[in-house]
Amino acid sequence: MNSKPVKGFSKLSKEAKIEWIADEYLGGDDKCINLLKSYWHEDNDVQKIHDEFIENTITNFYIPFGIAPNFKINDKVFCIPMAIEESSVVAAAAKNASFWLERGGFKSTVISTTKVGHVHFAWYGDFKNLKSIFDKIKPIFYKETEKMTANMRARGGGILDIDIVNKTDLEPNYYQLVAKFETCEAMGANFINSLLEKFSKILEREIQNSDLNEDEKRIVIIMCILSNYTPECLVRCEVSCSVDELNVDPTIDTKEFAKKFEQAIHVANIEPYRATTHNKGIFNGIDAVVIATGNDFRAIEACGHTYAAKSGQYRSLTHVEIKDNLFRFWIEIPIAVGTIGGLTALHPMVKFSHQLLGNPNAQDLMKIIAAVGLAQNFGAVRSLVTTGIQKGHMKMHLLNILNQLGATNEEREKIKFHFKDKVVSHRDVVDEFCKLRGVKNTSLVKNNH
Ligand code: MEV
Repeated sequence: MNSKPVKGFSKLSKEAKIEWIADEYLGGDDKCINLLKSYWHEDNDVQKIHDEFIENTITNFYIPFGIAPNFKINDKVFCIPMAIEESSVVAAAAKNASFWLERGGFKSTVISTTKVGHVHFAWYGDFKNLKSIFDKIKPIFYKETEKMTANMRARGGGILDIDIVNKTDLEPNYYQLVAKFETCEAMGANFINSLLEKFSKILEREIQNSDLNEDEKRIVIIMCILSNYTPECLVRCEVSCSVDELNVDPTIDTKEFAKKFEQAIHVANIEPYRATTHNKGIFNGIDAVVIATGNDFRAIEACGHTYAAKSGQYRSLTHVEIKDNLFRFWIEIPIAVGTIGGLTALHPMVKFSHQLLGNPNAQDLMKIIAAVGLAQNFGAVRSLVTTGIQKGHMKMHLLNILNQLGATNEEREKIKFHFKDKVVSHRDVVDEFCKLRGVKNTSLVKNNH
């Protein structure tokens, strides 16, 4: 391993970058070079699009792109595209979509679509004076950004409100200019950040030109940035059926299942250790759709987790109620996604995902994503309170183990058949594989790491 620093790496061609890495870090290993190149797209134009998404691209990194069919959401049946590497996620989504298909499907509603951003600044004076200047100059923020907001306004969006907030209870001299936006079909990050930067210039100028005293004319702009916490960009999705229809597993009575399910959600609500895993499972589904549709899963996750902690304690994002024999299960979560801009117009698979979903607008996409999160959580809790999670998980993981062992198609089929009604464990699969091949140990294991 060489630790030689490099200058101007980004200026090298893709081939030269690969060569440099191979020489400096991989002992010139041809196998690595070939591996990297084998992941290039055969169509140069498509590859170029991928190359230019980020800096220093040397190849592509595959994760599976799967489909969860039978998602009935607001009476329309969708095939949902999901990009994810975890073996059991798409299977669970599909299974639970079908379960709810027969019980009325998912009902999703967008509650609000407001995005928010801040100019964080330090200021030294009496807040009353700042507020009074701000109220006078407020129209200037709209006026001087008219050109920047023209297209968005034409689409029905734009700046919803701007205000000054005193945050000195958190930190002396800390204030915010808080702005709210409607960004329609766009996620809106560039729109919001550009406006916030412009707002900061206006604020600085107007304060300095005001009749405030010299001390109060001092303002330090700390930063201008949208917030990925968008509690006012909120979607709610619900499933419901009579308790008698909760025949999820022959080994458990519907009433007992409903009760255990309710207890499991309650545990996730009161115990952050469980809530974290519970919500992680929700994001298994949400992230997969967010990635497939070209949105920013880090933003969606960060927002969801903050929302889960809005009471001051990290809690479940899903909720359940059982009343008069009616089982209602719902999720309420902020999801700020776009269906135009960003990757949506560039990445061929992202374009495909949108087409498969019928080119939804941003609100429809919020509804779809919430439904997948809810289905995923229903599936996880359903397994946890009945068979346990490992049964389904290891069944899917069986294929990964067989691939690692280099099993032939015939061996795969035989081993899959063997485990049809058994709990899969890595050890048992290896033993069964060795038995089938008539060997004693795992020296056949294809992967040598
Ligand atoms: C695994 O990726 C996700 C689960 O752990 C979620 C959960 O426990 O609810 C199964």
